[in-house]
Amino acid sequence: MSKKICKVAHQDQHVNSATITQIPGDKSISHRAVILASLSDQPITITNFLASEDCLNTANIFRQLGIQITQNADNTLVVHGKGMHGLTESRDLLDVGNSGTSIRLLTGLLSAQSFKSTIAGDDSIARRPMKRVIDPLSQMGAKITGQALPGKTDTYPPLTINGTSQLQGIHYTMPVASAQVKSAILLAALFATTATTLIEKKPSRDHTERMFETFGVDIKRDGNVIHMMPPSQLKLPNHNHIHVPSDFSSAAFFLVLGAVIPGLTLTLTNIGLNPTRSALIDVLRKMNANIHVTPKLSDGAEPMGDITVTGGILTNIDVPSEVIPIIIDEIPILSVAALLAKGTMRIHNAEELRVKESDRIAGIVQLIQAIGGQVEETPDGFSTHSLTTPQDFHYDAGHDHRMAMSAIILAIATGVKAEVKGCDYIATSFPNFFDILKSLDIRFSLE
Ligand code: S3P
Repeated sequence: MSKKICKVAHQDQHVNSATITQIPGDKSISHRAVILASLSDQPITITNFLASEDCLNTANIFRQLGIQITQNADNTLVVHGKGMHGLTESRDLLDVGNSGTSIRLLTGLLSAQSFKSTIAGDDSIARRPMKRVIDPLSQMGAKITGQALPGKTDTYPPLTINGTSQLQGIHYTMPVASAQVKSAILLAALFATTATTLIEKKPSRDHTERMFETFGVDIKRDGNVIHMMPPSQLKLPNHNHIHVPSDFSSAAFFLVLGAVIPGLTLTLTNIGLNPTRSALIDVLRKMNANIHVTPKLSDGAEPMGDITVTGGILTNIDVPSEVIPIIIDEIPILSVAALLAKGTMRIHNAEELRVKESDRIAGIVQLIQAIGGQVEETPDGFSTHSLTTPQDFHYDAGHDHRMAMSAIILAIATGVKAEVKGCDYIATSFPNFFDILKSLDIRFSLE
């Protein structure tokens, strides 16, 4: 991918209020909807599917595994699943592109198929640690090999998976709070010969468990314990239909923009409000943000609603450790809010940020320094302070969509000029991000 640059101009004025109806579908739920629908034995229609590069890579992989999938212009996907045992071998490599969710979840699923698969992705994926899924899946009987990297102790993609229909269930305490690891195990456990019990030390997003319930899987949650029985087949969801709410993590960029510009009111419609995803609202409210949520009726397993935010003066807090796993994707944009708030924000226990699409602790520190802010980096987080004199900046977001969008929102919110490199990657999760900026009369160009 080339390195597209977004040049954000000095913003001398902005709209006073706007309703943003086009936040696209949720990335995590879109991946899971394609996976489960592919294992169903009747066609399933997925509406508000996120047609971003990451989720389209997942859909293409299922096409390679023999599933017919049609996509309509209005982000509706029809998946012609072939039942739980209908996937077939692909002789070609399965390419996830930039998507860590695809590689981790599919490694679980493919471990349990009676054929061999090789799965890989881009340069960022080639540096994402995979032992966290390989270890528990191997305990279930999976045969997975990957690559070593010089000076590192983990295992990295490409992965070769020698699938087997003889996986056993597992009783496993998760060492990292990770929905990708949890979901890889649960997808393998669908095909296991015995039940699976997972213990999460801290909760992580629960979309897989909710979608399993929708498909009739006997999965029970009791506090931090998840217990699941392998089904003989999946049940069809209501009307053979899954609706994907709009992505809270994408909405978060505009939630923060609205919260930090006094006088601005933004309303974001039909946003997913799963409590294991929307904790940024609570964090911003603790910082005195003015946020109003109107829940909406949802016919599926995932709550959704409209969010209205009115800008004001925020005050920084120490972010409690327990919420870190459920705001993990929002920490880059939260650091933007911190720079525009009074006082100091401290974030700890967030070492997982170092193994995302990029090392996001390093990326956040570079961004804060680029605009002239003060920041102290620790192995598991950072502290940052109210920004006194924002300066024009250049920033390279590498392969990281969320760092690129955070840098652009920071420039807009502070009114400085900025050049942000790596903006191609925004298409992995938020293909119409720039269209929304245009609709808000933000002055920028893309080169
Ligand atoms: C995701 C889980 C999280 C998150 C990622 C999407 C998912 O990763 O950061 O963007 O869809 O399961 P981890 O499981 O590594 O925390």
